[in-house]
Amino acid sequence: SVAPILTNLQKDCATPLPVLRHVADAMEADMLAGLAVDGGSDLKMILSYVDSLPSGNEKGLFYALDLGGTNFRVLRVQLGGKEERVIATEFEQVSIPQDLMFGTSEKLFDFIASGLAEFALKEGGKFHLPPGRLREIGFTFSFPVKQTSIDSGILIKWTKGFAVSGTAGRDVVACLNEAMKRQGVNMRVSALVNDAVGTLAGARYWDNDIMVAVILGTGTNACYVERLDAIPKLQGQISSNGKTIINTEWGAFSTGLPLTVYDREMDDASINPGEQIFEKTISGMYLGEIVRRVLLKMAKDGDLFGSSFPEKLATPFVLSTPDICAMQQDNSSDLQAVGSILYDVAGVEANLRARKIVVEVCDTIVKRGGRLAGAGIVGILQKMEEDSKGLIFGKRTVVAMDGGLYENYPQYRGYLQDAVTELLGSDISKNVVIEHSKDGSGIGAALLAAANSKYEHDF
Ligand code: BG6
Ligand code: GLC
Repeated sequence: SVAPILTNLQKDCATPLPVLRHVADAMEADMLAGLAVDGGSDLKMILSYVDSLPSGNEKGLFYALDLGGTNFRVLRVQLGGKEERVIATEFEQVSIPQDLMFGTSEKLFDFIASGLAEFALKEGGKFHLPPGRLREIGFTFSFPVKQTSIDSGILIKWTKGFAVSGTAGRDVVACLNEAMKRQGVNMRVSALVNDAVGTLAGARYWDNDIMVAVILGTGTNACYVERLDAIPKLQGQISSNGKTIINTEWGAFSTGLPLTVYDREMDDASINPGEQIFEKTISGMYLGEIVRRVLLKMAKDGDLFGSSFPEKLATPFVLSTPDICAMQQDNSSDLQAVGSILYDVAGVEANLRARKIVVEVCDTIVKRGGRLAGAGIVGILQKMEEDSKGLIFGKRTVVAMDGGLYENYPQYRGYLQDAVTELLGSDISKNVVIEHSKDGSGIGAALLAAANSKYEHDF
């Protein structure tokens, strides 16, 4: 029957306070180990080379490219300095064709460069570039990159289902420059940024209390503001008492997570087994797939959908996170929407009892994901508080959130907030604001391009 499968799942996914605390503490310890030496822990703790956050004085026309979420976006923004701030923005987005995710580096970068070229042609209206200048780009590239400067960095490996050949080990800005040349585009990349870093920069433009940014979308990541002298692996190379942003690449975190047989099987079947375990447990690309695996088991061993076997449900990734999200929003007494989604994606007729069980399975997986993400955030805040007694918990501190999962899944957001409040206690958690960042990483990348512009700021 289905009941023991559900009971075991709930037991294996449980995240009571001690589990959350263990995860938060492990996150903090892994951060310290990753800052101490390269390869010191699962967390790469990558230096962003962003050493000044947007001041508000940025002026001029800047472009941004955003590759790595569900969509590829191109964006332009006209910045007007302290008074006028953001004068105008325009963007276009397309979803990345499947075949490009498995093709060659040239094909992917040509696609990006030609999208940029077409978009640049439509410039006009409020957008203005002083004569004789190249258009400058902030390039958000949301994969683990070993930055070598603010405008260069080497792709360590692909994540989130990308398996493009010929990019790992190369400078992705060089890849883009070569593609722009092939496509006849003459623009200059002034900043290469991770999406979490772009989100932090974009949010900080409006609010000085932003200290951490977290992406919860297809994949997941977090970055935060760190003191240069708290990064032992720099060995004084940059001798300054300044600050920088550290890209944690926390998707690779793995310590103390409550995992199930379904997670292990999904990981084994993935294109990057053994990697990105935190990401596979909490992010949008995987939540629906974990649920699908549980439902398949319930259908095979517990006749969840009666005697007919749901052939379609055997296909990996047919059930998406937006599907499970839509099912969880169904408040009708007969779970009408749950029934029709199951019919559409899995081709099964589910009775009310089965629909209720499906919703419970979704809730179990989403609750674990949201609560673990919350514990991760607390781990980062704890580390920052350790270093600067009172400067984090003793005043308003804001965590900027972005990504489709956070934006669109109310239950996930609720579970995340619950975990943060449980871990910090109500007094401290009053000071910690977790909020959706309205501009995403696009404007952040454009602002960082402006801050690193090759031209004088004389317009
Ligand atoms: C967007 C950010 O809002 O969220 C992107 O601007 C980021 O930089 C993306 O990569 C992640 O979300 P998703 O859901 O598309 O993976
Ligand atoms: C993946 C990438 C990381 C990115 C995150 C969110 O974890 O490795 O760089 O920030 O997804 O998009």
